[in-house]
Amino acid sequence: MLRLAVLASGRGSNLQAILRSISQGSLKARVVMALSNVPHAPALELAQAAGIPIWAEDHRTFKSRKEFDAAMLTAMAGKQVEAVALAGYMRLLSPEFLQAFKGRVLNIHPSLLPAFPGTDGAGDTLAYGAKFAGCTVHFVEEALDSGPVIIQAALAVQANEPLDGLMPRIHAMEHRIYPQALQWLASGRLRLQGRLVHLSAPELGEETPEPANPPAGCLISPPLEQGF
Ligand code: GAR
Repeated sequence: MLRLAVLASGRGSNLQAILRSISQGSLKARVVMALSNVPHAPALELAQAAGIPIWAEDHRTFKSRKEFDAAMLTAMAGKQVEAVALAGYMRLLSPEFLQAFKGRVLNIHPSLLPAFPGTDGAGDTLAYGAKFAGCTVHFVEEALDSGPVIIQAALAVQANEPLDGLMPRIHAMEHRIYPQALQWLASGRLRLQGRLVHLSAPELGEETPEPANPPAGCLISPPLEQGF
């Protein structure tokens, strides 16, 4: 059972998807704390409703990123957090925070990285005129949206598709690939070799999960497994 802390600044639909996969039994994890730099973020209400301890402070009241992140680390102390999932957490993390959870911080981003990093990955995809959009789960490194890629989902952009048409389609994919990536982490199946992430087969004696059908019109790599 992977003990997860979730960091979120907004709506919290990815937190909700993580909690759903946990309650359905496909993601063998427990969210032991939700943290935010936005004290009234809807994600926190969601966490509270699920009985998850929360911590939130406005980052602008701290002198530096280092101090804010140190406060988060203090808040997490004693919770035996094994991994951190950024779920719409719209801030960079300090080197000190990343060092504390080396190789155990994941992020979801609404574009096919390395294209369109930043705060509006899907909007930037459309504005550029790219014909494929999508989302990426990756390990977090210091530079923005830059770490080794774990899984990506790609969608063809429709002619004249507005952002409010594309965004829900990307979110629907995020809600499937993020719990899947976290389950691979929880089951020790992700191995980092430099920038490359290798997904290993389940341990001997463990069941090999059947592949799940990808949603229509969507390409996912590596393929989703049953339950996601
Ligand atoms: C998601 O689309 C996520 O990919 C994005 O924020 C949204 C949060 O939605 N993250 C980034 O852009 C990170 N650079 P949610 O609050 O409903 O989960």
